[in-house]
Amino acid sequence: MRLKDKVVVVTGGARGIGREYCLGVAAEGARVVVADIADPKPTVKEVEARGAQALGVECDVSREGDTLRLATETLARFGGIDVLVNNAALYGTLVRRPFMEIPVEEWDRVMAVNLRGLFLCARAVFPAMKTRGKGKIINIASSTFFKGVPNYIHYTTSKGGVVGFTRSLARELGEFGIRVNAIAPGFTLSGENEKNLPDEGKETNIRMRMLKRAEVPEDVVNFSPSRAVRRTVTP
Ligand SMILES: NC(=O)c1ccc[n+]([C@@H]2O[C@H](COP(=O)([O-])OP(=O)(O)OC[C@H]3O[C@@H](n4cnc5c(N)ncnc54)[C@H](O)[C@@H]3O)[C@@H](O)[C@H]2O)c1
Repeated sequence: MRLKDKVVVVTGGARGIGREYCLGVAAEGARVVVADIADPKPTVKEVEARGAQALGVECDVSREGDTLRLATETLARFGGIDVLVNNAALYGTLVRRPFMEIPVEEWDRVMAVNLRGLFLCARAVFPAMKTRGKGKIINIASSTFFKGVPNYIHYTTSKGGVVGFTRSLARELGEFGIRVNAIAPGFTLSGENEKNLPDEGKETNIRMRMLKRAEVPEDVVNFSPSRAVRRTVTP
C-alpha cells in the first residue's frame, strides 16, 4: 500500500493505459480521480469493485474551465491532490499519414490536447499542491520523440514538447516541494492504436524488442508474466 489515501488524478483515465494507471494506483491504496473526455464511469466502477474510492470527472483537458472544475471537484470530494498524471492525449485515434496530408486543424487539435492540456492541468492543481508544500506531476511523453517516427509528426512533435515542459516545470516547482517527471513508454497495445497499425508493423515492432513480445498497458504499471506468454511471437 505505497499510496495509501493519496489522491491521484489521472487524465485520460477512462481507457487504454490511463485506465491501467487508475487500477494500478488504486491497488496501492490511492483514492483515484478518473478524468476523461470519454465516460469515466466504467473505470470508476472497476476501481470501486477493487475496494478503493474513485471519482469520475468528464473533462476536456484542452479547456481551461474543465481543468479548473476537475481540481475543484477533486478537492471537494477528497480534500487535497497528491499526484497528477497528465496522461490524456490524442493518440490511438490518430490516422498515420504523411505530414503533407495532415489537416492543419488536426495539427492544432493535437497540440491543444497533448500540450495545452498538460499546461492547464498543471496550473489547475498547482495552488492545492503549493498550499501543502508537496505534490507530484507525472507527464506521459513517448519513445516516438527520441526515435523520430514518420507519418505521425504532430504526435511526435507534441511529445517532444512534453519533455521540454517537464524539464522546465521541474525547475520552477522544485522550490515548492513539487516534483515533476515524465515517463516515455514504448509502443504499447492499448486498444485504439491496435486498429491503426497493420499486423506487419506490430511484428516488426516485436522483432526490435529485447523481450520478444508486444508491450501491453499492464507493463507500464507492473510486469505481467501471463500476458508475456500469451503475446509472445516467434520472429
Ligand atoms: N500506447 C502507446 O503505444 C503509447 C506509447 C507511448 C506513449 N503513450 C502515451 O500514453 C498515453 C495513453 O496512451 P493510450 O495508448 O492509452 O492512448 P488512447 O488514445 O488509447 O487513450 C487516450 C485517452 O485520453 C482521452 N482523451 C483524449 N482526448 C482528451 C481530452 N481532450 N481530454 C481528456 N481526455 C482525453 C481518451 O478519451 C482516452 O481515454 C498518451 O499520452 C499517449 O501519448 C502511448
